[in-house]
Amino acid sequence: MMFSQVSVIALLCFARTTSASCGFYIGKALTADGSVMLSRTSEEVSSHWLEIFSAKDHSNANMSVGVTEHASMPGRLMNISQASNTFRYLSMEYSDFEGFLAPLTNGGVNEKGIAVRDKWAQNRDDLIAMTPNPQMGLQYSDLARVVLERANTAREGVELIGQMSAEYGYANYGGNSHLIADANEVCIVWEMSGGKKLWAAERLGYIEDFPVDFTNSPDYMGSLNIVSFAIEQGWWNPNGTEPFNIFNVYAYQAEGYTARDGGAKYMSQAALENATRAMAPVTEKDLIERLWPSSVTAPFNPWWLGVKGIPPEYGLHRYLYKNAASTFLDPEYQYQEATYFAGRTFKQVLYYTCSNPEAFLPIVQNILHGFENASFADLKWVERSAQTLAENGQREAALDLLTFYSHARAEKALALGKTMVDTLDAYTKLTGQFPMPSGSPINDPGLGTETVNCLVGWDPDLPADQQTPLKTFRRQTRARIR
Ligand SMILES: *[C@@H]1O[C@H](CO)[C@@H](O)[C@H](O)[C@H]1NC(C)=O
Ligand SMILES: *[C@@H]1O[C@H](CO)[C@@H](O)[C@H](O)[C@H]1NC(C)=O
Ligand SMILES: *[C@@H]1O[C@H](CO)[C@@H](O)[C@H](O)[C@H]1NC(C)=O
Ligand SMILES: *[C@@H]1O[C@H](CO)[C@@H](O)[C@H](O)[C@H]1NC(C)=O
Ligand SMILES: *[C@@H]1O[C@H](CO)[C@@H](O)[C@H](O)[C@H]1NC(C)=O
Repeated sequence: MMFSQVSVIALLCFARTTSASCGFYIGKALTADGSVMLSRTSEEVSSHWLEIFSAKDHSNANMSVGVTEHASMPGRLMNISQASNTFRYLSMEYSDFEGFLAPLTNGGVNEKGIAVRDKWAQNRDDLIAMTPNPQMGLQYSDLARVVLERANTAREGVELIGQMSAEYGYANYGGNSHLIADANEVCIVWEMSGGKKLWAAERLGYIEDFPVDFTNSPDYMGSLNIVSFAIEQGWWNPNGTEPFNIFNVYAYQAEGYTARDGGAKYMSQAALENATRAMAPVTEKDLIERLWPSSVTAPFNPWWLGVKGIPPEYGLHRYLYKNAASTFLDPEYQYQEATYFAGRTFKQVLYYTCSNPEAFLPIVQNILHGFENASFADLKWVERSAQTLAENGQREAALDLLTFYSHARAEKALALGKTMVDTLDAYTKLTGQFPMPSGSPINDPGLGTETVNCLVGWDPDLPADQQTPLKTFRRQTRARIR
């Protein structure tokens, strides 16, 4: 079975839980400049920082992978051998999820133009229950990093995940997937919980109907047991009339839970897909401002892979870092920790903005869009100038120019963030709208009450058709599905 070259969008957020992460891909046929776009939202609470990893040569080096006994599904770390060379890549690193060890990554983009994002893709409970304790193997972040470090194409990324899972196993917290894109195509890989080395991949799609003889198809890949295991377990009958459907067989089993329409978020995958098609040809600005504003109160900054470093304000800090509350700072980080932290500043903007989203959100977003407009307007001359330098044998100067521009924008963005916090702080306090907390615990107990968000009148973690808009909607409780 062949898909046409012009096919378009793939979006996954296969999780029946409020802490799902979603990925979003727009193919080159739907974008204004013929590039592919990949985006993601995540709900890891922990500290996040931007990092550029240099290309490296390694000789006989090991890498430590897996999860520890402290993970939500306990495991043991293992050493596997590192490749002899790894590529340069850019990643948003973070400090904790489900007890997994820092630093973690959901993905990023490498020097070969390969972009990868992981997304929660939960499996059926009986599969999760089969997971050995301790579990061993690479976990979602290890797999994303291996793809960034080693893959030349999207397809190669899938093959790497397949090989690594077959050789070392897959450690998890209930199933996960990766969206891997290059300039031409995108693949979705779903790694299954259970310790059975099960995985399935499809070029461009939601991984639903899946050919039983997938090894003969260029559009599908998977572990060789992906069909036989389902038959063994009685999850699919090869003699029946139902086609083999990976989602139906391996996903979390619940009434009304489907790959395309049954999401756990306010908008379903299908609704977002339709919105994207209606907007085509899509520009990067459409994506970040209208379609997928994954950053509600922080501006987007341009980064190129050739940028020589990240300003300390955007690097690793202890704010929300695991164990920061019970340890002293390593003096090596004294200077970096002394800087303002962009992650913290824009969280402050978020909290103030979402305290009164009707009044503040349009103003804050207009400011951010104005800032982003100015960056977009500069991109043409910045990239043209860098290219001219590179074409004239001045590669270093080209990289210096890109570094200078990215840093200048990042610093300006942070200054803007501070101004916004100060302004919102003054306004909120001076107009008598600043309530002191009443003394309840500062950490949300995680029981499913609404947490801070800017979606007025709606719950972002429930499909729109399962809720009625409420005029004053704050901290409504509801039962969690799991
Ligand atoms: C991995 O290798 C390092 C260095 O060789 C060693 O200290 C560590 O104990 C090893 N970890 C495991 C789980 O084998
Ligand atoms: C790599 O890991 C293996 C298995 O833990 C260990 O035997 C070997 O000594 C390690 N090599 C290095 C260079 O750390
Ligand atoms: C399917 O049919 C074949 C041939 O009749 C039989 O050997 C096999 O046991 C059947 N499988 C199931 C799961 O019913
Ligand atoms: C998306 O568009 C298709 C085709 O127009 C339509 O059938 C479907 O109902 C739409 N889905 C949603 C969720 O809007
Ligand atoms: C940003 O630019 C778009 C045109 O591309 C314009 O419609 C919009 O009003 C601008 N926004 C701001 C806040 O300047």
